Order: sequence, then C-alpha cells, then structure tokens
Amino acid sequence: MVYVLLLVALASIAAAAVLRHYLPLLRHHGLPKGSFGWPFIGETIGFLHAHPSNTAGGFLQEHVAKYGTVFKSHLFGSPAIVSCDEELNHFVLHNEERLFECSYPGAIRTILGESSALVVTGERHRQIRSMFLALVASTGLKASYVASVDESARSLIASWSGRKTISFCEEARKFPYKVAFLLDSLLAGHETTSVLLSILVYFIGKSPSIIDQLKKEHEAIRATKGKDEPLTPDDYRKMEYTLRVINEGLRCGNIVKLVHRKVLKDVTYKGYVIPAGWKVLPILGAVHVDASHHLEPEQFQPGRWEGLSQPAGKSFAPFGGGLRLCPGSEIVKVEAAFFLHHLVLNYRWRMDEEDVPMLHQYVEFKKGLPIQLEPISG
Ligand code: HEM
Repeated sequence: MVYVLLLVALASIAAAAVLRHYLPLLRHHGLPKGSFGWPFIGETIGFLHAHPSNTAGGFLQEHVAKYGTVFKSHLFGSPAIVSCDEELNHFVLHNEERLFECSYPGAIRTILGESSALVVTGERHRQIRSMFLALVASTGLKASYVASVDESARSLIASWSGRKTISFCEEARKFPYKVAFLLDSLLAGHETTSVLLSILVYFIGKSPSIIDQLKKEHEAIRATKGKDEPLTPDDYRKMEYTLRVINEGLRCGNIVKLVHRKVLKDVTYKGYVIPAGWKVLPILGAVHVDASHHLEPEQFQPGRWEGLSQPAGKSFAPFGGGLRLCPGSEIVKVEAAFFLHHLVLNYRWRMDEEDVPMLHQYVEFKKGLPIQLEPISG
C-alpha cells in the first residue's frame, strides 16, 4: 500500500512537472515556431553542444532551417525565444530596461560575481557602469596608457626568447593582466582579451598573405620610430589593416556568442509574440556567420572590412549594443593591435597540430593552441 501511495505521489509530481514545462505553450498564441524539447531539460543540451567558432553549429543550423531565424525553445530552465535575426537582436539590445532586462543563468552569475556589471540591473547597474566608463575614459587612448600596453606586449614577446614551442593560450593569459589589471578584473575581461589574441594567432597563422600584409603595415610604422620607442596613440590610428584583422577575429571568434535577457512586458515583433517572463536570447554569433550578411562566412577574410571604418551595423555586434554595450571594446582593440605589432615583427609561427577554436558557452582551444616559433632575425 505504501508503495502504491509512493508511486502515485511520484507520478503526480512528474505529471505536474511535465505540465509546468509545456503549459507556457498553451497560454500564448502567435508564438514563433519551435520545440520545447524534453521536460526539465528542454533543448539545453543540444543548444550547448560545442562547434567551431566560425560556424553557427548543428543545433542552430537545423533549427533555423526548420523554423526560421526566430524560434521558440526551452533553455536554461525557462521558455525562450531564440533570435538569430539581426533586426530582433538590435531591437532587444536597444530596449534594455523598457521591454527586456539582462538576466544571466545562475552558473554564469557565479563566475561573474554578484556585483558584476552584467549581473546587476537598474540603479545599481547605472552606478557600476558609470564607474566603469569613467575608468575607461581615464585610460582612453592616452599616451601613458597606450605606452603601458606597448610595454606589456613587448615584454611578453621578449619572454619567449629561446623557446621553440609555446602553449599560446597560456601565454596570452599573462598579457592583459599586466595591462589593466583593475579594469580587467572587474569583468573577467582578461579572459575575453586573451581568447581574442588566441583566435587571431590561430586564423592569421593559417594565412601567410595576411601575415605579410600585417608585417608591411607594422614595418612602415616601425620605420618612423626608434627600435625600442614605444607605440603612441598616433601609431594606433595608422593600424588600419590590423583593425580589419581584429574585426575579422571578432567575427570568426564569436567570443560572446549570445546575451541573456528576460522579457519584461509582452512584445509583438514582426507578428511574433514574445511573452513576458520568458527568456529572449539574441545570438550575436549566428548573425556573424550568416551567409546572407557576410559572404563565405567561414573564411577569415579581413579584406571584407575594407572601406568600413566603423563596421558596427546590425549584422556585426561582437560587443553587444544599447545600454550594455561593452565598455572594454576600445581597450581590447588597442591591446590586440599592439600585441600583433610586436608579434609579426619578431616571429613567424606554425601550428603543427590542428586546434580549432570551439564554442561552448565560451571559446576554448582544447590543446591550448600549441605553436612553433621562428624568430625573425634583424
Ligand atoms: C574581445 C573581448 C570582448 C568582447 C567580445 C566583449 C563583449 C561584450 C558583450 C557582448 C557585452 C554585452 C553583454 C550583454 O549585453 O549582456 C559586454 C559587456 C561588458 N564588457 Fe565586454 N567584451 C570584451 C572585453 C572586455 C574587456 C577587456 C572588459 C574590461 C576591460 C570588458 C568589460 C565589459 C563590461 C564591464 C560589460 C558590462 C557592461 C554593462 O552591463 O553595462 N569587456 N562585453
């Protein structure tokens, strides 16, 4: 008898959980197509499946082919609207606090810390963000800050002297720490910067012609300066090709693949209902590798940014947008540009083992990106 009661209790709990999982589907009409997957887990496991960073991955490819660029799903324990649509992504990012609110899952909150800018909302967010912007403005492109970035890049590369093989990911992690410890430590930003450097070394390392063009640009800058003279803000402004390479690294690297938002009020967008209380996930990375926005999207082609001094637009948003636009974007670009300057002037490198950047929640090189260094003499 006890067993029967226990079974009945368990069956009722399971039925209630199943009902709770699918109930949101019955409550709303006009939702985009899509599937809620399995009770409890929804489609989260498939969604988190790793894939090369310059592709959308099997899950999104299949879902977009079946349902279109905006679809419903059940992810991270919540009903969700997934957007691989540049217009909707832009709309969501630019309606922060009015219609949507930043809302990261527990695991990410734990990594970031409860007082991280990305975790707090409302007044507290405004306070932390303005403190951050003030810090960034105090470094900006000021000569002293730029010189300290130069010094860090120079000393990191000098520390490789005599070494034939390095694990690049490990080395890259040392770089931003030296540069802006305070700023970086506020948002685990050091991880994103070092990942960008690894992505650049990976993609550039596969293309001798890109290395040659980079070298040409940096040799021309160095020719105007003494051997050990630090780089200046003016030098940075001359690094036009380098910035195209960096943009292409951001596009193919998709370091922040998506952002997390909660819907505050029911929204109707292009005929779809996006219900209050659901999650909405703008997948920034999906737009970056969409062939209708970027020709041959899997190819690393810095030339695609030629003539576009500010390639912001809706189809390229590696730093997000709106109220939460990444305040570290300019710092990251200076760091990457100066690092590339000293790298291409001092070394050639090879990757004997293939170690593709894989995107889970974050980008990862499984083997730590081992590279073989050949110093450039003279
Ligand atoms: C390649 C490197 C980086 C990428 C791709 C990146 C990308 C992003 C993105 C997409 C967001 C918006 C998140 C959202 O809307 O939910 C963001 C926010 C933020 N980033 Fe970055 N980031 C990078 C590096 C950095 C660095 C180096 C710092 C620190 C120096 C930094 C500081 C921040 C802060 C404080 C926020 C929160 C802004 C707010 O909520 O108001 N980021 N970043």
